[in-house]
Amino acid sequence: MQRIFSGIQPTGVPHLGNYLGAVRNWVRLQHEMESIYCVVDLHAITQPQDPKELAKQTRELAASLLACGIDPAKSLLFHQSAVHAHVRLAWIFTCVARMGWLNRMTQFKDKAGKDRENVSTGLFIYPNLMAADILVYHASHVPVGDDQRQHLELTNDIAQKFNFDTGTEFFKPVEGLIQGPAARVMSLRDGAKKMSKSDASAQSRIDLTDSADEIALKIRRAKTDPEPLPSETEGLEGRPEARNLVGIYAALQDVDHAAVLREHGGKGFGDFKKSLADLLVSQLDPIASETRRLLADPGTVDSILREGARKAAAISTPVAEEAERLVGFLQVG
Ligand code: TYM
Repeated sequence: MQRIFSGIQPTGVPHLGNYLGAVRNWVRLQHEMESIYCVVDLHAITQPQDPKELAKQTRELAASLLACGIDPAKSLLFHQSAVHAHVRLAWIFTCVARMGWLNRMTQFKDKAGKDRENVSTGLFIYPNLMAADILVYHASHVPVGDDQRQHLELTNDIAQKFNFDTGTEFFKPVEGLIQGPAARVMSLRDGAKKMSKSDASAQSRIDLTDSADEIALKIRRAKTDPEPLPSETEGLEGRPEARNLVGIYAALQDVDHAAVLREHGGKGFGDFKKSLADLLVSQLDPIASETRRLLADPGTVDSILREGARKAAAISTPVAEEAERLVGFLQVG
């Protein structure tokens, strides 16, 4: 069986990295495979969130995903806290995963930084919940950006150990779909850092709600080097900022780096940035206005989430129950 699952955290406005690394691929894939997309609010509270903002951000993110083209007639869209099967399986996985495995997670190290003693225990076991999200639907494919690669490897380790511990083949391996020239979009201010919601500088990222003027300004100010664009991809070696802008352009046009360089090689960044800003505005502006339109009618967004959660629960609850039976919990009903 082929089934897609993926998730995104409602920790702020989605940015260009989320869009090009993940959401655009989700929109395409919903026409190819059964697709389940989740706003992962349980994951969001592994780091401090303002309780007054979280529900609002969850709805806004759902609206943004719909505006990007997630079609509720084709995909399930719901928020994670509304479907309890995720947590039921995550608890079992917390007892399957080993401390050593989680200790190796680079995202935990990045997010915890020097303050390891003070982060939530949820942040440490975050990947167990992510594994449960995927496996509770028996998903076969997981479209994500490059930064989630290690979490997907852990998901397969957990699945394998669960099977071994229970003497079954209950969970099958899952395959990451890490695709396209923008699987890792970098900060506009520093080509060595990925574009991220948590970067203190708003200049480092393009948010999907940015106005045309903001987009043009951020691209104009994006860090580059003094050389013109090369005509071949080898010429991007050692030029991370140039590679990043070319990758963004390529992803927006559905081509590869080489095709962009064939067209723009030899140009200075002034010209190229102008074309890039125009391309971005033409694709992101309709998303921003559609998001605003959807949010003017929050009842419709909520009813899409409610219906998505109902269907998601119907798929995942029996899987969580079967996993509980396999680990040996008494069944009395
Ligand atoms: P999150 O919310 O950080 O990001 C959502 C998606 O966007 C991708 N992404 C990027 N892609 C390219 N360049 C970037 N700079 C960039 N930044 C983010 C992410 O790879 C992701 O695909 N742990 C996940 C959410 C999650 C999940 C899951 C994903 C929870 N359960 C189950 C897949 C399956 C996360 O924090 O994504």
